[in-house]
Amino acid sequence: MPPPSSLSRTAVIGFTVVITLIGIALFQAEFANPHPRLLPLGVLIIIVVAFVALERKYRNELNRQQEKIERLMGIKVVLASLIDMKDPYTEGHSRNVRDLTFEFSNFLGLPLEACEEHATAAELHDIGKIGLPDAILKKAGSLQDEEYTEVKVHPRLGAEALKTLRGFESIRNIILHHHERYDGTGYPDGLAGDCIPLGSRIIALADSYDAMLHGREYRAPMSIMEIISALQAQAGKQFDPDLTSAFLKFLHHGVRSGTRDPVCGMPVSAEDSDFVLEKDGHKWLFCSETCMQEFQRHSSKYLLKPEAQHSDSKN
Ligand SMILES: [Fe+2]
Repeated sequence: MPPPSSLSRTAVIGFTVVITLIGIALFQAEFANPHPRLLPLGVLIIIVVAFVALERKYRNELNRQQEKIERLMGIKVVLASLIDMKDPYTEGHSRNVRDLTFEFSNFLGLPLEACEEHATAAELHDIGKIGLPDAILKKAGSLQDEEYTEVKVHPRLGAEALKTLRGFESIRNIILHHHERYDGTGYPDGLAGDCIPLGSRIIALADSYDAMLHGREYRAPMSIMEIISALQAQAGKQFDPDLTSAFLKFLHHGVRSGTRDPVCGMPVSAEDSDFVLEKDGHKWLFCSETCMQEFQRHSSKYLLKPEAQHSDSKN
């Protein structure tokens, strides 16, 4: 017995054929009639049938494309979770970097298409690590020179893995260059400055931020204030200086709007925080009194300068 979708398709085709034949018959009969009255009705029926057939064809094509996109998205999520399963110290890292990259790209005012492209590249940025030996990836201590040389292959492995996927060309390129440094001392190609794709420069910031915030086996998590100092110290070296200014401004907005405690990085919201500080027209939220006092002690050092505009010429 054919499935219901085949049945309904057969019924629609049959109905279309019958209506078309009636339309043609009316058309011919009216041409033979010296005083045609049904001619407009015949024309109308044929137009309606043509419209219904075209609309159905278009909807089917749209559904097929939608299914294809959903399949691709499913594969992407599976790949990203494979990376996190392979490297237990970075659980959820791919997802965090994806969200941060999307929000920051959006903050920069980039078109939605570019934000989504950067987010996809961010989610898959370390996919090449699947090809690295566990002995290196799960090593608790620092790496030997030859081990580090092996790790440096992962951007190329990741780009290679996505080679056959159509429509992933620029995402591949972003992944390939996510460990380049603004001063040209990164890998794999030693690209410098604006020669590094914008998406890769954005992911470099988001990747480092998330790694510092959550820590690693060999390094304790850092507070947002320590992270801000670390990012500022690398502006123009590891990171694009204009993007770093914009990223700090972006963090400042997130922190100020109460998504995270600026001292310890813990999520905090206006509803559950008893520790609120109003300063320079801004409202800051904390998870404890200790964090609030710590912030007051250091705020002049860490608070950002008013407006560090990002140059749009890098888009
Ligand atoms: Fe990486």
